[in-house]
Amino acid sequence: NDLDKLKDRPPVITIMGHVDHGKTTLLDYIRKSKVAASEAGGITQGIGAYKVQVPIDGKPLPCVFLDTPGHEAFGAMRARGASVTDIAVIVVAADDGIRPQTNEAIAHAKAAAVPIIVAINKACQLDMSALIDKDGANPERVMQELSSIGLMPEDWGGDVPIVQISALKGENIDDLLETIMLVAELQELKANPDGSAKGTVIEAGLDKSKGPFATFMVQNGTLRRGDIVVCGEAFGKVRALFDDAGKRVEVATPSIPVQVIGLNNVSIAGDDFEVVHSLDAARE
Ligand code: GTP
Ligand code: NA
Ligand code: MG
Repeated sequence: NDLDKLKDRPPVITIMGHVDHGKTTLLDYIRKSKVAASEAGGITQGIGAYKVQVPIDGKPLPCVFLDTPGHEAFGAMRARGASVTDIAVIVVAADDGIRPQTNEAIAHAKAAAVPIIVAINKACQLDMSALIDKDGANPERVMQELSSIGLMPEDWGGDVPIVQISALKGENIDDLLETIMLVAELQELKANPDGSAKGTVIEAGLDKSKGPFATFMVQNGTLRRGDIVVCGEAFGKVRALFDDAGKRVEVATPSIPVQVIGLNNVSIAGDDFEVVHSLDAARE
C-alpha cells in the first residue's frame, strides 16, 4: 500500500511581496545570514532556497524557505515560487502598504490554492516613528487594505493570520514562525521518500565556480548522485549535489532544495524533472 510509505516532509514556505518590503531581511534574521547586504542594488534577482531548523517548544523542526524577488520584472519567479510552496508568507511594509507586486503575489498564492499568512513588516515602534509616511500608513491601515481585497485578518473575525514584525530588529519573528508551523501542521504534509525522484526545478543558471547548475526541489522519492535526470529539453547524469550551504551531499529527500551539477542545458527553471534509468532513455 503506497499510503503506508508516506512520511512527514518539511513544509515549504515562500516569502513574497513588493520590492524592498523586507523579504530577504526577514530570511536573513531567521537564518542569521547577511544575504540582503550583498545583493547588487539591494534587489533580489533569483529564488533563494534555504533549509532552516525552526525551534518550536525547544524542538528544532526542519522547514524550507524560498525567497522570491519583489521587483516587477520577476513575475515568473513569483509564480514559480508560489507553485511549489505549501504556504505563502506575504510581506507588506507598514509604511508602504499594499502595492502592485503585493497584489500579484497574493494572486499567485490564490491561484496555487495555498494558505496565506501576512507579515506586516517595518512595524516596530522605532520603525513607525522613522518611517511613517505622508499618507499616515501604518499596520492598522495595512489591515484595512487587506480586508478590502478579501484577506480578512483573523483578529477581525476572518481567516488570515497576520503578524506584525520588524525583520531588521528581529521583533515578533518567533510569533511569525509559530504561526507558520501551526498552519503547516494542519496540512499534514507527506511524501514518499522511496523510489526514484520527481520534482521541480526552482532555479537554474551559471555558478561562478561550479558552472551550469540547477536547483531542484524533490517532491517524491530521493535524488542521488549518479542518477540520470530529464527536465524539459535538458538531461544529464547528476555529477554532484550541493546543499543550500554549498556542502557536497549524496542525496536529496522530499522538500529539500539541492543544487545539481551535470545537466546539459540550464534554461529549465520551472520545469519538472524526473529520474530515468539510462542516458539513452534520457536522450530519447
Ligand atoms: P526585493 O527582494 O528586492 O524585493 O527586496 P526585499 O523585499 O527582499 O527587501 P530587503 O530585505 O532587500 O529590504 C529592503 C530595505 O528595507 C533594506 O534597506 C532593509 O534594511 C529595509 N528593511 C527590511 N526590514 C526592515 C524593518 O523591519 N525595518 C526597517 N526600518 N527597515 C527594514
Ligand atoms: Na531589496
Ligand atoms: Mg529580497
